[in-house]
Amino acid sequence: MIKDRKDYLRRVDEAADYIRAQLGEFGIPEVLVVLGSGLGPLADFCERFKAISYKDIPNFPVSTAPGHEGLLIAGTLSGSKVFMMKGRFHYYEGYEMEEVTFYVRVMGRLGVKTILLTNAAGGIDDKTEPPYFVAIEDHLSFGCESVLRGPNIDEFGTRFPDQCFVYDKEYLDILTDCARDLNIPLRRGIYAYSKGPQYETPAEIRALKLLGASCVGMSTVPEAIAASHMGMKVVCFSCVTNMAAGLSGNKLTEEEVLINAGKASSESCDLAKEFISRITTDKGE
Ligand code: HPA
Repeated sequence: MIKDRKDYLRRVDEAADYIRAQLGEFGIPEVLVVLGSGLGPLADFCERFKAISYKDIPNFPVSTAPGHEGLLIAGTLSGSKVFMMKGRFHYYEGYEMEEVTFYVRVMGRLGVKTILLTNAAGGIDDKTEPPYFVAIEDHLSFGCESVLRGPNIDEFGTRFPDQCFVYDKEYLDILTDCARDLNIPLRRGIYAYSKGPQYETPAEIRALKLLGASCVGMSTVPEAIAASHMGMKVVCFSCVTNMAAGLSGNKLTEEEVLINAGKASSESCDLAKEFISRITTDKGE
């Protein structure tokens, strides 16, 4: 939990100043894409202006999760300036919520307007074989510690932020249009946040199903709350990589998650690319 709001803000601004100085005349992109499992190859489509290792950014945490490289890329994707985060920070790794969301705050202070969050998730539907995609229209996280707990940083946003519009409705429609035009099946649904690192129990999944969740995962919600607190537009899609606990009769493994994220990777990248090209006004020259 943030204890010293002035010190936290100073550390966020120090990181932001470093990134701004590194980007020089390139400027600050309006959009950040957070590359979840399977979306890593999107970074290869990006014409890089600069790739900054997390360990060089003052006060930035360093990711410990396997397969999560720590790189902030600034470049051009389909003619639009973007930031990409290759590697994110999960609560289950041992980071505090203010560390999990540190990068979001830095992006907000830099003036980034939109954040596209992607992730792998377990599907709470026992009829559809993974992989498939869910565009997130809302989330469940009331059993979890809030990222906004502690003294409010007024420079970020208000003490009691509304949560009815965390996921931008207009951008959700644009994402839906992109999927339709690319012939990629995309349903809408509710993402349930689970702190992990253990997968859920079958009883937890039955409970989440009763509550209306479509999928479950161990990331995204803290970042979505922190970004919308700062007034950023949030858009998110999950790649469902496995049936959630108890639905398939099989044990859950990370291997299944990675294999299915890999199978869906090219469609994930196409969807993200198309979405970015439709929303960016900040075209490179
Ligand atoms: N549960 C939580 N997180 C996940 C899952 C799951 O079933 N699959 C991928 N990430």
